[in-house]
Amino acid sequence: MEYNLSDTAGKEGRIPQGEPQRQYYFMERAKERLEQMCAEAGRRLTFCVVTFGCQMNARDSEKLTGILERIGYEETPDEEQADFVIYNTCTVRENANQRVYGRLGQLGRIKKKNPYMRIALCGCMMQEPEAVEKLKKSYRFVDIIFGTHNIYKFAELIYTRMESERMVIDIWNDTDQIVEDLPSERKYPFKSGVNIMFGCNNFCSYCIVPYVRGRERSRSPRAILREIERLAADGVVEVMLLGQNVNSYGKTLETPMTFAQLLREVEKVEGLERIRFMTSHPKDLSDELIEVMAQSGKICRHLHLPVQSGSSRILQKMNRRYTKEDYLALVEKIRRAMPDISLTTDIIVGFPGETEEDFQDTLDVVRKVRYDSAFTFIYSKRTGTPAAVMEDQVEPAVVKDRFDRLLREVQDISAEMCASRQGMVQSALVESVDDHEPGMVTGRLSSNLLVHFPGDASMIGSICPVLLRECRGFYYIGEISR
Ligand code: 5AD
Ligand code: SF4
Repeated sequence: MEYNLSDTAGKEGRIPQGEPQRQYYFMERAKERLEQMCAEAGRRLTFCVVTFGCQMNARDSEKLTGILERIGYEETPDEEQADFVIYNTCTVRENANQRVYGRLGQLGRIKKKNPYMRIALCGCMMQEPEAVEKLKKSYRFVDIIFGTHNIYKFAELIYTRMESERMVIDIWNDTDQIVEDLPSERKYPFKSGVNIMFGCNNFCSYCIVPYVRGRERSRSPRAILREIERLAADGVVEVMLLGQNVNSYGKTLETPMTFAQLLREVEKVEGLERIRFMTSHPKDLSDELIEVMAQSGKICRHLHLPVQSGSSRILQKMNRRYTKEDYLALVEKIRRAMPDISLTTDIIVGFPGETEEDFQDTLDVVRKVRYDSAFTFIYSKRTGTPAAVMEDQVEPAVVKDRFDRLLREVQDISAEMCASRQGMVQSALVESVDDHEPGMVTGRLSSNLLVHFPGDASMIGSICPVLLRECRGFYYIGEISR
């Protein structure tokens, strides 16, 4: 860190050493300072949290929002109007980094006109030393930079910046600490993400996550269940259990526990109606989990099961530790236990050394599994990962052509899968009213697809039976079924 906190300790008296008390102390101090700033400015100062990337980041952003609100900043959706802008970044693919630099340049120009403006950056990209170096050199107007391991310290970092004119940088390489009971502001009153584990130990050869999110750590089942019980008591009916590899949950706990056992406990929480989770690694998906899912009345009929490639040769180079045949056999087992399950996946095209034959294997898996939807990615070289130094990186034009062919296949199959459920009645959790179509609401089905049907704002947060009248490719138009 460029600014040493112990400098303020003398002035401010005793700072609690334990967490989360220490952070609540800094929230109070920052609140006092913010009051002065608002009085000076003659208005309430505002904030905007911009999230890039995955569901983990979305959940982290709710924690950042909770802390900013506790300090007294008011939320605004418009980052160009906000006095405190924080970018929660992603670095899983290179284009995510480029977007951050682009938007940051624009923000720097706005900051020149607003003396109260502060800019903070956090998330996965900040765990890359090259990114931080670049920011230190070319983006001096950034106020606070921190990483993925210490977001719980946000209040302390804000206060440190309030007390100094210097850039505050605090990046940790790793941690085994999990701080519980900090404030958090949910985006939706009726559903919430819940972290069950952090980090990843898999080291897929293309992936930067293990380097930026650190080693796998599971939260204690007690802390998870307490959080879910509180959420349910507060009106949450759907939770999404989050982890990079939820199927290996519990292995690092003092008293080990499986993910399936955790699900059994979550299922018992009263008031909770739906349980989702992501992401599942095929190599760790157990029979016990399939059994728990099949028996459950609350676990959604949806499984996100990233395949990444259909070629056993490429899968081995990716260090995925399963073959095409293993994956297909797993899918068959899952479908046997739950014929109505919706399967989705992630696929990377253009991994180093991928030939047309390897790509055909990927298409073959797509055709055999028939995914409800698939996220398709062009391989992106991430410095520091084993794949970045592999020979025979594939020609961009070849990759683009394969990507287009894959996308067409995936979209055609999605539309067919969607159509095959037309006419059914399924329960939908009403999430919002449609902006552009008055009198209509959007509901999420157990399969994770959306359905639009007549309704009003009073229905938000309720689960209703909906007739899926018409399939429109990847969503439905429906009506309440009585
Ligand atoms: N290039 C392209 N896609 C990637 N993913 C992870 N790393 C890379 C990379 N280097 C994809 C994987 C993963 C999803 C979250 O992002 O498909 O499942
Ligand atoms: Fe990355 Fe593989 Fe871990 Fe997923 S399982 S976060 S793809 S290393």
